[in-house]
Amino acid sequence: MFEPRDPPYPELKKTHTMARQGRPWTDHKPPPAAPVWAAIEGLGRYYVLLAALELDLFDTIERTGPVTAEALGDELDLPIEHLRSLLDAVVALELLEQFTGVYDLNDAARRYLVSDGPATMAELIPVAPGPHDNWTRLADTVRNGVPASPIEADPVAFYVPLVEGTFTTMFRCATRADLKVRYSASRRPRILDLGAGGAPWAIAVLNACHDGTAVVNDLAGVIEVAMEKTAEHGVADRCEFRPGDFHSVELEADHYDIVVLGHVCRTEGADGARHLIERAFTALRPEGRLILADYFTDIERKLNPHAVMMSATMMAGTEKGFCFTHQQFSEWLTAAGFVDLRLIEPIGFQQSFVATRPPRTPAANTVQ
Ligand SMILES: C[S@@+](CC[C@H](N)C(=O)[O-])C[C@H]1O[C@@H](n2cnc3c(N)ncnc32)[C@H](O)[C@@H]1O
Repeated sequence: MFEPRDPPYPELKKTHTMARQGRPWTDHKPPPAAPVWAAIEGLGRYYVLLAALELDLFDTIERTGPVTAEALGDELDLPIEHLRSLLDAVVALELLEQFTGVYDLNDAARRYLVSDGPATMAELIPVAPGPHDNWTRLADTVRNGVPASPIEADPVAFYVPLVEGTFTTMFRCATRADLKVRYSASRRPRILDLGAGGAPWAIAVLNACHDGTAVVNDLAGVIEVAMEKTAEHGVADRCEFRPGDFHSVELEADHYDIVVLGHVCRTEGADGARHLIERAFTALRPEGRLILADYFTDIERKLNPHAVMMSATMMAGTEKGFCFTHQQFSEWLTAAGFVDLRLIEPIGFQQSFVATRPPRTPAANTVQ
């Protein structure tokens, strides 16, 4: 007599046959390996760009105009096959164009990569990732909670080229910020620029306000960059240069119309960032405004990859550095006493909080 039994291979039950489900290898599409390759190629992409800058390819092509690898090789005294390989890689990065073997600058290269481009990043690219060696030891940094060579070990060596490299972008941002902040409408404004670098913010405000003055702070050894840049822009005579640690340098209370914390909070850790915000609050006069520029991560730390990678860059290269969310900054600003918080983006990817120290209450003005 027939006895129903379980089939020996349950996966071959009627509902699981190929006729119903299709072949497994055509049914199931594996995820692409593209994100893995993108990560692997990330290293090569960066060093291709760095080599192109070091070999002066962009400036040379700007001078020669469209050029073959042979002619460029003659011009720069470089072996043709190696040069062509590098040029093709730069084309793959979409930072040069090539047609019938002739290479030329594209719009991105003209704007960002030639040394006199209107928004040149040529000097920034070598220093932007922080000390390169730290990246090769990132797992150790995560294990130990601190990088092997934090930039704090020699801040002058790191920050001088960094702030020279970021000046063009930050100055453009600070100048455009007037459209949102209207600092140009201030009369005799007093500006405090903490960790000023080349002082792009102080210079932008002083350019717009011919009766303004600024106190410009940075570490001794870096503040010289601010001295040079303010002199170049003809505003040095309205600046007082105050070298020292921005956590402890002496500051007047209730004094400034504008305090700038431009890309300084993200190296300081949460406590350090809050301390700088509190110092800014005390230094501002009532109704004075803080401008706090940084790269902010979104609340879930995943929707703005640029800020997330900047946070990893801080982790890889500094003792306490991480980027913080808009929400964290909003809470810290509010806790310090600021009101009327706004977030502005004067140029793409450059956001700043603008926050106001509240006016004195009438009671506070009353002489008791
Ligand atoms: C990323 S740069 C920003 C420069 C400029 N504020 C800007 O927005 O372009 C950070 C600056 O903070 C300065 N800095 C870092 N630690 C500091 C400290 N403890 N006291 C004063 N300045 C400091 C660095 O020297 C550097 O110039």
